[in-house]
Amino acid sequence: MAAIESRSLGRGRISVPVVGLGTWQRLEAAAAAGRHRELVDTAIAAGVRLVDTSPMYGDAERLLAEALDGRRDEVVIADKIWTPSAQEGVAQLARAVDWYGGRVDLMQIHNLVAWPTHLPMLEDARARGLVGLIGATHHSAGAFPELAELMATGRIDTVQVPYNPLQREVEQTILPLAEDLGLGVLLMRPLGEGRLVRREPSPAELAPLRPFGVTTWVQALLRWGLSDPRVSVSLAATAHPDRVRANAAAGSPPWFGPEERALVERLATAR
Ligand SMILES: NC(=O)c1ccc[n+]([C@@H]2O[C@H](COP(=O)([O-])OP(=O)(O)OC[C@H]3O[C@@H](n4cnc5c(N)ncnc54)[C@H](OP(=O)(O)O)[C@@H]3O)[C@@H](O)[C@H]2O)c1
Repeated sequence: MAAIESRSLGRGRISVPVVGLGTWQRLEAAAAAGRHRELVDTAIAAGVRLVDTSPMYGDAERLLAEALDGRRDEVVIADKIWTPSAQEGVAQLARAVDWYGGRVDLMQIHNLVAWPTHLPMLEDARARGLVGLIGATHHSAGAFPELAELMATGRIDTVQVPYNPLQREVEQTILPLAEDLGLGVLLMRPLGEGRLVRREPSPAELAPLRPFGVTTWVQALLRWGLSDPRVSVSLAATAHPDRVRANAAAGSPPWFGPEERALVERLATAR
């Protein structure tokens, strides 16, 4: 299997393989089947390094810490602060630092909740070595003007936003601004929360993508996002170890050009 390409995650300070692992709902699902350790082990074996989680994702942060047992240093932890309360923000950071061996590599402000409150706290934590990079996330295009305002302060290193063939609002402002400012971009919902993969195009429809090493629709969707060089890492989420392996296989060049991306967009629209 070809190695996953690595890209810079925010101002060139950390480089990560372009396929990451999301944990929203799926890590708990893996744990319910007794497979969360196997899921994380398989991800690491497949070359995945960045794992994204949040206090919003139920028990996912704790399950991730449990699954990493002894392998913490092999991954880049992207966690979040998600609360309107300053005090609870401090407590969430303390819990995460405790779970992940004394530091969180990337701490993001989830959905921009109370960012003016949490940002100085995170900057202080970064100065104390508890946090590596600072980022912000939002899932809704309606919040992108506020996200752009925060990006322009120069105080964050990464953004996390949705980007797939049916959700392309980030192309208007967020991706160009991230490129100008040298910010890392974590791509959420690469498979449209699973909606995009429910109906597969036929092998004949996918045939033009075969010279790119792409034989499945999931790989086509993941390669579509990663073929935009402004994207640093794609956070596909799955509860199944075999799917983690398949997703990781989409993280190597050759990348799509405009024609292949347009084909994936047409096929996605037709689903
Ligand atoms: N900050 C935010 O506001 C925010 C919002 C949304 C997401 N996120 C982050 O981004 C991550 C990814 O987004 P997402 O979880 O919404 O959606 P996604 O990755 O676009 O899609 C996940 C769905 O795709 C399925 N799937 C994954 N790989 C597959 C494969 N190889 N074949 C078939 N089905 C596959 C999964 O089901 P199975 O488990 O059954 O495989 C799951 O239902 C999240 O986990 C989270 O870390 C952040």
